[in-house]
Parts: sequence; structure tokens; C-alpha cells
Amino acid sequence: MSGKRIETTTSMTAKWTCLCRATSSLESDTYYRSNDHIALLLVPVFLRLLLHIPLVRNFCTQTLSPKGIYQYTIARTKYIDAVFKEILAEGFDQILIFGAGFDTRALRFQKEAVDTKIFELDVPITQKAKLDQYAKRGLSIPANTAFISIDFDKESLAEKLAEAGFARGGRSLFVLEGLLMYLQPESVDETFKVIHEFAGEGSVVVFDYVRGSVLRKARSYHGEKDIMKSVEKAGERWYFGIEEGELDRFLKRFDLKVSEHKDAQDLERMYFTDASGEILGRVNGTHCLVRAAKPAPSQA
Ligand SMILES: C[S@@+](CC[C@H](N)C(=O)[O-])C[C@H]1O[C@@H](n2cnc3c(N)ncnc32)[C@H](O)[C@@H]1O
Repeated sequence: MSGKRIETTTSMTAKWTCLCRATSSLESDTYYRSNDHIALLLVPVFLRLLLHIPLVRNFCTQTLSPKGIYQYTIARTKYIDAVFKEILAEGFDQILIFGAGFDTRALRFQKEAVDTKIFELDVPITQKAKLDQYAKRGLSIPANTAFISIDFDKESLAEKLAEAGFARGGRSLFVLEGLLMYLQPESVDETFKVIHEFAGEGSVVVFDYVRGSVLRKARSYHGEKDIMKSVEKAGERWYFGIEEGELDRFLKRFDLKVSEHKDAQDLERMYFTDASGEILGRVNGTHCLVRAAKPAPSQA
């Protein structure tokens, strides 16, 4: 693969996700508020000021954003934040964040993560844009955090991890948030092979994927047409999806077992439903969130 936009320009989709999180951190409605206050420091200053105006926030999230993607990003952030907190409380050895973009968890959870090493992976240009922004805003990088530049479609993940000191067999959390759809299917396979190779017993993998039918443009889900257009416009096409009913089989190849599998309706129930049962936000239907674990060999 050559000539991908992410080789020469900071990932647009990473910037967009960061903008969603920044916007969400300013919401007064508790269903829409998530607490990535650092994302707000990473958006350009003029935009940060504008985001304090509710009308501007509405324009970004209702008019500019593909239907249900703002809600999906909020739900995904809350879901993965909860997994992050849980495994830190359990004292996991290390965390690997693939395609980290403007993920700020290493900073947001630095107190809880003092004894856990965090590694962030991304293409060089996007990683540099984030580190430059951290420096510009006076945000110091916690001592437990390391950054590894890589293009998953071109370079050896196993070699990069070994070089960076990611321990084989450690109890690890692997986070692949908003990433797999952008990779070639062979790179997804390679990535999960490496996860299998490095993950110690009890390790956890959290990721999201798009449904196979979305890549075939079947247009069956809420917001599907919108999101496909936006991704193409950003020059970051989707190549990988998982077909309905195929998740267990996909993960079994890498000795992983599904612990949780959430679709848009599950996320609406978890994050956007009030006490009377009214749904206050519709979630884009193209993605699902998965939590999987590497069981002990006797249970695999
Ligand atoms: C949609 S963004 C998600 C960023 C971040 N995980 C988040 O949720 O905010 C996709 C990220 O994957 C990275 N990415 C896409 N293709 C990649 C590749 N082949 N190698 C390394 N990183 C890649 C992009 O640079 C970008 O940061």
C-alpha cells in the first residue's frame, strides 16, 4: 500500500474523534457528557473557544457529524474508560493502545497507572502532532508511557514491540479503538497474531469493528450512508469488517474468548436511556464494541 493520506497528513478521523470528545466534555446533559477534559486542550484555540457556545456544539455534532457518530463516540469512550479503570485497579502489567490518535488515557489515568506501563502506537505523523500539542499545552508525559511509531500495513509489530520493551506473557490490556476498519485484512490478522503471541493469561482485548455488510454498502444501519461518505472524504477508507455471527470464530483463531459484545441498541440502553425508558440519543448502527479475554490454557 502506498500513498495513504495518513502517511503525509495528521489523521483526520483521529482529529474528528478528539473534537467529539472535547465537545462532549462541555455538555451539560449528563447522558452526553464524558470527561475527556484533555481532548479540549488538543483542539485549536479558536475552536476551543467556539465550542463553549451550545449552538456551535450542536452544529458540529448534529449537522457536520454523520448521524449517531457523536453518540457512538461518547458511548465508546465511556465503555473503554471503564475497562481501563477496571484493569488498572486489578494491577495489570502493561497496556498497548493501537492507532492511539489523540487518545489521552495515559494522562487522564496517570495516578491509577503508576505501576502499569503504557505503550501507544500510531503512524509517525499523527503521533508527532499529538506530542507537539502536548508540549505546546504544557502537558507532561507520564514516566510510564512510551510511544512507538508504526504503520501496521508495512512494518513488523512484533519487532517494534520487542524493541520498545513490551513484555511477552505480561498481563496486558490491548486497546484497538476506531482502528481495525482502517487496516487491510492481512494486517488485522497479523495484529491479532501478535496480540496472541504477547498476551499473558487473563489479558484483555477491547476493540470495535464495523459490520461486514457496511463495507458492501448494504445500507441497513442508522447513519450508515453518512459515515461512509465522511470516511471517504477524510481519505481514510475502511477495508475490514466482521460478518454477522462470525465474531466468535474470528477470535477463536487467536485463542481469545468474547466476554462482551455490544451493538448500537445495547449502547443506547447503557448510556442514553433515562429512568422512564426513553432513549435520549440514537447511536450509529455500523459499529459494535467487543471485550475479549485470553483464558487459561485449560479453558481455551
Ligand atoms: C479513527 S482514528 C482513532 C484514534 C483513536 N484510537 C481514538 O479513538 O481517538 C484511527 C487511528 O488509527 C491510525 N491508523 C490508521 N491506519 C493505521 C496504520 N496502518 N498504522 C498505524 N496507525 C494507523 C490513525 O493514524 C488514527 O490515529
